[in-house]
Amino acid sequence: METIKLRAEHLNLHFGNKHILKNINIDFPKNQVTSLIGPSGCGKSTLLRCFNRMHDLTPDAVIEGKLFLDDLDLYDRQNSVTEIRKRIGMVFQKPNPLPKSIYENLSYALKIHNYPKDEIPGLIRNALEESFLWEEVKDELKKPAVKLSGGQQQRLCIARTVVLRPEVILMDEPCSALDPISTKKIEELILKLKKDFTIVIVTHNMQQAQRISDKVVFMYLGELIEYGSCDAVFNHPQHELTRRYVGGHFG
Ligand SMILES: Nc1ncnc2c1ncn2[C@@H]1O[C@H](COP(=O)(O)OP(=O)(O)O)[C@@H](O)[C@H]1O
Ligand SMILES: [Mg+2]
Repeated sequence: METIKLRAEHLNLHFGNKHILKNINIDFPKNQVTSLIGPSGCGKSTLLRCFNRMHDLTPDAVIEGKLFLDDLDLYDRQNSVTEIRKRIGMVFQKPNPLPKSIYENLSYALKIHNYPKDEIPGLIRNALEESFLWEEVKDELKKPAVKLSGGQQQRLCIARTVVLRPEVILMDEPCSALDPISTKKIEELILKLKKDFTIVIVTHNMQQAQRISDKVVFMYLGELIEYGSCDAVFNHPQHELTRRYVGGHFG
């Protein structure tokens, strides 16, 4: 049986008078990788960002409907954004390490969340090991993070998310700025991390979606057109638009 970790019900989002997300209903199962696919501008990033309240500071964004993490209503104003983002982490397209050392990139978040000082080094080592980065950086933890390669920086950003033990990790095209070898490493990492976390990822790479996804969501012009297992969406799409998109006929 699948357990639902993250859910949107009748989600509509407007930016000013533009209707961007149109009545989205979706469940994301626990400990699975769900990919959001669809042509550029269809609303994938906008949907992903709703789940950790990234539109809160966009003045003309209006969100209607309900979003849940388990039974927690994510838009109940009593729930703090900091607490929600601890439980729902996010990794972005461009690696965005802090202009600090490798070590401080991880200790920073732990300090903000008041983790006991003596536990911090162990937690940092764990997170770096879990993110397939420890062996490469263990002797130079004081080095500025920006000196790492792009792929290492992205694994550091994943480690920075993982170190807080979130329940969900949102990833918005995390490999689109990386070379094929770094991309492969991140894909392997995603497949391992799903044992401990629920992962929702935006990707424009159809091969990648097929390699890593349990479930796939196809969106078009702000609507959810099709949702199903990776095999169903790629090999037996129900909708003509999905068929054309996964067949590479537009994008
Ligand atoms: N802050 C914003 N204000 C107004 N329109 C926006 C804003 N952010 C995104 N959009 C628009 O919302 C639509 C969906 O964008 P986005 O979610 O980034 O698409 P995708 O990630 O699928 O490429 C696009 O038409 C984009 O121009
Ligand atoms: Mg996007």
